[in-house]
Amino acid sequence: MNTTAGSRFVNHSIAPVSSFQSAQGFFNIAHRGASFYAPENTFPAFQKALEMKADLIELDVTLTRDKVPVVFHDEKLHRTTNGKGDVQNYFERELNELDAGNWFSSEYKGTQIPRLEDVLKWASGTISLNIEIKKEAVTTAQKNGIVDCINELVIEHNMSEQVIISSFSGEALRRFRDISPEIPTAYLISSYSFGTTKAYQLMKTMNASGLNMKPRQMRKKLMQLVKKNKVPVWVYTVDDADEMADVIKKGATGIFTNRPDLLRQVASRVLKNHQK
Ligand code: G3P
Ligand code: CA
Repeated sequence: MNTTAGSRFVNHSIAPVSSFQSAQGFFNIAHRGASFYAPENTFPAFQKALEMKADLIELDVTLTRDKVPVVFHDEKLHRTTNGKGDVQNYFERELNELDAGNWFSSEYKGTQIPRLEDVLKWASGTISLNIEIKKEAVTTAQKNGIVDCINELVIEHNMSEQVIISSFSGEALRRFRDISPEIPTAYLISSYSFGTTKAYQLMKTMNASGLNMKPRQMRKKLMQLVKKNKVPVWVYTVDDADEMADVIKKGATGIFTNRPDLLRQVASRVLKNHQK
């Protein structure tokens, strides 16, 4: 297990996923896979993230009409597929017929929307995942709701020590904590938040293990508070080298990027100089 991670706000709660990371003491997280290079939230993007030696792959999960967890970011299909309308109105077999790669490049024509189950099978024993539960898919239903469906799949595929669950939905995180207290969770601060210490208090009410935020939300008081309490801070989405360096210097535990290859170079340079 990589112990250097301990110096960057990493508490015991995320120790298992640390064992899958490289030796930089910092988490390089491929946002929707290496999505600068291949269509987001698809197997080609995940494969590229693995080749670029990302420590974690972030992906978004929502539910189909027949309650199958699938990996997809938007509520609607049109931006990243040849379909239209709401994902949640489609049965899984209907989504299988859509093309989720051609919008990005004809090289990826024929790429399908992945089922979470298939990604878990692929990742098990190989790479850790940050599974973001889409807020729109969270309902009051517990049995057969998205949280329980994801939890069952994670356990079935022996991935409990290889996942972090994140969400903008506090309700989803509380539920996850109730049913699988050993799996780390991270609270995505609202995009409208100014990065005050209230975000930390909210996270505590969900009993979450970490905070996800934008670079502008890494405000001094909040960062002091999380550092003092050894709370991991995950920062999204940074593709610019100068901004990556700045965010690392401010103490991020990890960065979500569409360009894990670039982050790898920047992180190794900055961490070497910064820790001198
Ligand atoms: O989890 C970080 C980031 O993925 C949250 O924003 O819109 O890219 O899902 P979004
Ligand atoms: Ca996401």
